[in-house]
Amino acid sequence: MKPVNVGILGLGTVGGGTYRVLMRNADEISRRAGRGIQVTHVAARDVKSSEFKELDKIKITQDAFEVVNDPEVDIVVELIGGYDPALELVLKAIEQGKHVVTANKALIAVHGNEIFSAASKKGVMVGFEAAVAGGIPIIKAIREGLAGNRISWLAGIINGTGNFILTEMQEKGRKFTDVLKEAQELGYAEADPSFDVEGIDAAHKLAILGSIAFGVPLQFEKVYTEGISHITREDVDYAEQLGYRIKHLGIARKADKGIELRVHPTLIPEKRLIANVNGVMNAVLVYADALGPTLYYGAGAGSEPTASAVVADIVDVTRTLTADSENRVPHLAFQASSLADTPVLNMDEVSTSYYLRLQAADEPGVIADITRILGDQKISIEAMIQKESKNIEQTASVILLTHQVLERNMNLAIQQIESLDSVSGKVCRIRMESLGS
Ligand code: HSE
Repeated sequence: MKPVNVGILGLGTVGGGTYRVLMRNADEISRRAGRGIQVTHVAARDVKSSEFKELDKIKITQDAFEVVNDPEVDIVVELIGGYDPALELVLKAIEQGKHVVTANKALIAVHGNEIFSAASKKGVMVGFEAAVAGGIPIIKAIREGLAGNRISWLAGIINGTGNFILTEMQEKGRKFTDVLKEAQELGYAEADPSFDVEGIDAAHKLAILGSIAFGVPLQFEKVYTEGISHITREDVDYAEQLGYRIKHLGIARKADKGIELRVHPTLIPEKRLIANVNGVMNAVLVYADALGPTLYYGAGAGSEPTASAVVADIVDVTRTLTADSENRVPHLAFQASSLADTPVLNMDEVSTSYYLRLQAADEPGVIADITRILGDQKISIEAMIQKESKNIEQTASVILLTHQVLERNMNLAIQQIESLDSVSGKVCRIRMESLGS
């Protein structure tokens, strides 16, 4: 059978890895796909062909639209990133009847609904496994492996840079800014590292996971997003003393009134496997009704790990090229006509437990005032520690763990605690999840 022709847009970290993996494993890949897969056209800004074996035998251009318009190309692999010109390139490829594979989480999270609708009209496939958790086949696992289950919730460490920073702070006591610099030098961080530390990258990925877990359209704009830049070494230490680790989690949960989609630092019990996922590694814990909990762990970034997911999508597209489009695995796991309009809940309506840290005067009645405020908001305390402050005389750091409560009540309580004369500065609040069944 005639080989499938692939055009690659972008030969950077992921594009280069994809090219190398396709070349190196060509025989094994074609045995799996049922026909040959060959790269015939590449768009890249600067190509040093010596870096890539046999690149001199294929067409190379600096204009990505040339690849998209090449009638010989069957699958366009978009590895440029960002929205512009990625969106135009992808839509143009679809319009020309070409299948698309992309690693672009921002593009899928924000423009996925439009892209999938265009692809369905044209009967072409859009693969995006590499967009979430790099090489971990989490989309395939949820969309196909768990197709018989109702998913209750999932929680994932889906940004390697953020996890690397928290791990280094916890294990080596390193400073936030130093670790971020190292993550940038290692090539893990996004071009704009605020996407990593402010949780935007994780929110893109969570929007995608939430949609395929619950069968709702992509709604990136509704994901509650909080970064890790306010986490201090102190909080990491207190969490550890209380038997917890702080992880930057993306959480999607089916609640009674809707769906929770939230990204924020989270205290989780140190005995959970996911609490011990360190460095740049990613992991997603999924709770499904028939199977129970499963944990998917692996490299969430990097050249060949991400290429592994891109190539798997190319193989998938190749295998199903002859299948009728309605018999293919739907983009968002559920048939497009069966997507639900279940609302995404506002953060006020989310119920969770909390870690609170505040600075209070070390004098009689202060703790009583704080516990009265919490009690008035129906917030029950699970644990409390008080430590004399090393920095400010006659004050103490008070750390409280609470049971579950609506975020709305917690906001009111924090406002009132902050307005007490005996409390100085802001209350540091980190949400807490047991991640049990
Ligand atoms: N900046 C991302 C991360 C790269 O650190 O996880 C992979 O999406």
